[in-house]
Amino acid sequence: MDYKDALADVLYGQLKDYMEKSKLKSMIEKPKFEHMGDLAFPCFELAKIYRKAPQTIALEITQKVQLSNEFQNAEAVNGYVNVFLNKREVSSYIIQEVISKKEKYGDVNIGDQEVITIDFSSPNIAKPFSMGHLRSTVIGNAIALISEKCGYKPIRINHLGDWGTQFGKLIVAYKLWGEEQKVKENPIKELLKLYVQFHEEAERNADLNDQGRLWFKKLEEGDEEALELWKWFRDESLEEFSNIYKLLGVSFDSTHGEAFYNDKMDQVVQILEEKKLLKESEGAKVVVIDNDLPPCLIKKKDGTTLYATRDLAAAIYRHDTYQFVQSLYIVGNEQTLHFKQLFEVLQKMGYTWHEGLKHIPFGMMLKDGKKMSTRKGKVVLLEQVLMDAINLAKNNIIDKNPALASKEIVARQVGVGAVIFHDLKNDRLNDIEFSLEDMLRFEGETGPYVQYTHARATSILKKGNYLESNDQLALSDNEAWPIITNLMAFPNVITRAFNDCDPSQMAKYVLDLSKAFNKYYGSVRILDDQEQKQARLSLVYAVQIVLKEGLRLLGIEAPKEM
Ligand code: ARG
Repeated sequence: MDYKDALADVLYGQLKDYMEKSKLKSMIEKPKFEHMGDLAFPCFELAKIYRKAPQTIALEITQKVQLSNEFQNAEAVNGYVNVFLNKREVSSYIIQEVISKKEKYGDVNIGDQEVITIDFSSPNIAKPFSMGHLRSTVIGNAIALISEKCGYKPIRINHLGDWGTQFGKLIVAYKLWGEEQKVKENPIKELLKLYVQFHEEAERNADLNDQGRLWFKKLEEGDEEALELWKWFRDESLEEFSNIYKLLGVSFDSTHGEAFYNDKMDQVVQILEEKKLLKESEGAKVVVIDNDLPPCLIKKKDGTTLYATRDLAAAIYRHDTYQFVQSLYIVGNEQTLHFKQLFEVLQKMGYTWHEGLKHIPFGMMLKDGKKMSTRKGKVVLLEQVLMDAINLAKNNIIDKNPALASKEIVARQVGVGAVIFHDLKNDRLNDIEFSLEDMLRFEGETGPYVQYTHARATSILKKGNYLESNDQLALSDNEAWPIITNLMAFPNVITRAFNDCDPSQMAKYVLDLSKAFNKYYGSVRILDDQEQKQARLSLVYAVQIVLKEGLRLLGIEAPKEM
């Protein structure tokens, strides 16, 4: 129910000679404090039209207004008309709404099944899955789920970093120092070691870098030995990544990485040439961009391509394949310049769909205030973090709920939930200091706290023998009101989280709902009063449904027991 709309209807009845309904509706606010009511209509603009004091107008409106059922009363305060909802009426309406729609409550069909491609996760082959990639993975996954809830069709794309000069370097390092057996036993660790060694040695011996470039050129030209090694590194890495995706519960519609575009770049270069956009610069080919941005490098002096060249081909391919209305790139804010250049070049190429392209940046995961660097081997291994979280969750269960049947499954859900939520509750753009301790906290504003609240609600329903078909929804507890207003806000939070590409709004929402529920639970003895019991249980059920769905939209599971 859109109460703003209902109030606008009421006000329009009185003010139609002065203002459009849509204008009235847009002026309605939420009062700062609960005791000031649920909705507020400011009279300052009308005061100018009428040439009267705002408070006088507010008084006139409250005296004459014909409130509909869903409203209790209206008060004039400091030039505002403060309106109170009819709590009984609204509570039963909202609870009924949630219970009848279940997990479909909050579905907003603004997308009309149009496609949004979402480029996220996109780790680099032969390197560990970094914390930055974790951020991209969980933010992208949540945005995909939220967009689906909004009626869009998300296409999840893992744009693997599986091409580029670094593979030339890796081939050189492997040929010089690598051992097949060791790589087979521990692929990413071993390949990372080779990569780090390469950079150390290259500081003393610049010739190594030339060899690296040469081997990448061979790779782009289809040299058999180069391709075979490359493919082997890729397969081994993917296997390790797939363990992480399994733990996180994330999957993709496409894993076309950068290499996939190897045979599609000539065409891009040709179009750029035809449109006279390519310029020579110190032997390389670039597209000059008119505003303050530096030129976009398309081909190096030795004829090899770059990250940007592959992204151009990828953007065009995605548009041809999916006819997206939006195309999102969930990538750290250190690549902001890259995406600005990319979008500018596509615009210059004359593609009107460039308007649907959006870089969704996020802050860095820092260690001791500094960026983690793969080259220097300073990384935290994500799989280890996830395993630590799962073990901690398991110890908690053994401690607190030793009789729980499915310990392993629940431990995974809770441990992984903690890690995901820790990331998503922050505003996307903030840098986060990496702290294993924080990630593994299960109390306070954490994922496990929300999961625990959901499990508590589930157990109350069971204990109270809740009957879903009951129609006694008339709840008379005042303490329930903060829960009701939260339940009511769910569809709006979804829309806002989608529009701002900001899952943290959903994370904060499930925290608020959990807090409101736990407060209620602490002050109302839900099962004691036989007359109120079923009505209260229907409130508990509505909370359980919305918490579960809210967590799902963040990519987090909600165990029934924990
Ligand atoms: N593999 C890249 C990195 O780790 C991220 C790729 C993001 N997606 C893209 N289309 N450029 O930095």
